[in-house]
Amino acid sequence: MYQIVRRQQLQSNIVLMDIKAPRVAKECLPGQFIIAKMDEFGERIPLTICDYDREKETVTIVVQTIGAGTERMMDLKEGDFLMDFVGPLGCPSELCLEKNLEETRKKKIVFIGGGLGTAPVYPQVKWLHEHGIDADVIIGYRNKDLLFYEEEMRSVAGNLYVTTDDGSYGFHGNGCQQLQALVDEGKKYDLCVSIGPMIMMKFVCLLTKELGIPTIVSMNPIMVDGTGMCGACRLVVDGKVKFACVDGPEFDGHLVDFDQAMKRMQQYKSEEGRAKLAYEEGDTHHGGCGHCGGDK
Ligand SMILES: Cc1cc2nc3c(=O)[nH]c(=O)nc-3n(C[C@H](O)[C@H](O)[C@H](O)COP(=O)(O)OP(=O)(O)OC[C@H]3O[C@@H](n4cnc5c(N)ncnc54)[C@H](O)[C@@H]3O)c2cc1C
Ligand code: FES
Repeated sequence: MYQIVRRQQLQSNIVLMDIKAPRVAKECLPGQFIIAKMDEFGERIPLTICDYDREKETVTIVVQTIGAGTERMMDLKEGDFLMDFVGPLGCPSELCLEKNLEETRKKKIVFIGGGLGTAPVYPQVKWLHEHGIDADVIIGYRNKDLLFYEEEMRSVAGNLYVTTDDGSYGFHGNGCQQLQALVDEGKKYDLCVSIGPMIMMKFVCLLTKELGIPTIVSMNPIMVDGTGMCGACRLVVDGKVKFACVDGPEFDGHLVDFDQAMKRMQQYKSEEGRAKLAYEEGDTHHGGCGHCGGDK
């Protein structure tokens, strides 16, 4: 069992929790995720590791209510327990690996986080800051009331740019428009990392392709097992089939087929859609187990 040792309400529908999880806290790196399960009836919920404290043996998650599983998580209090907290899953961010540090130091990096995507950006920016690299960070929200993590991000970012779609705070516009404005002012970037809704990452990639800035995205399709077996998180990257849970979640954004990923995610939501996908995708439908909850 994994205890919630701190709980902070960030927004009416967003909560931050520190979970006592010694093994995950010891091994995890920025870019990875966990799968949480509240109890034996609970759904398996993939959540990005938003911070960790190896001494306190805690892992921070930030949860936004979407459906029944996350709604139930929202009701948990400090001191309550989660039944499962499986991880770390997925590959760590290449940027946050000691072996790549010298190369990373040479780069001028900009992060673009959208909405909830701000939280998973944080551990990467923090890791870089702790290794002497100050990245620029753009965080975008629909409006001022939805803003969170500003001070945390400011403390680790080189320059922080906050944007709101309605202009109620910071730059009036979205992350793409802010990046374009910075480039127009003469800023030069060698790498962009974007985390947020798929549609946002798609548009960031269209822009950065035009600007000639290599871009990494963190893909968050529907996941079930998180171990490459079920096929839920199938993507097409550079024309090849990949599974976000084991091959990602980070990919070269300029090679991701976002339209296919968004269409597939919609289809995967219904039993009929899954059956159609299983038929169309044939042998490449599953990551490994060869069956899909009896759908095949
Ligand atoms: C690698 C990864 C990291 C993630 N990190 C976070 C995080 O840090 N914080 C957070 O709040 N959420 C995160 N998510 C999304 C989160 O896992 C889902 O919102 C959650 O599983 C929904 O569960 P539910 O039971 O509340 O909703 P459900 O009842 O299962 O679903 C509600 C609706 O949301 C859809 N849905 C489910 N999963 C997703 C998804 N991944 N993308 C889009 N639509 C989906 C369903 O099809 C349904 O229409 C992440 C997802 C992935 C794959
Ligand atoms: S969640 Fe990735 S293959 Fe099942």
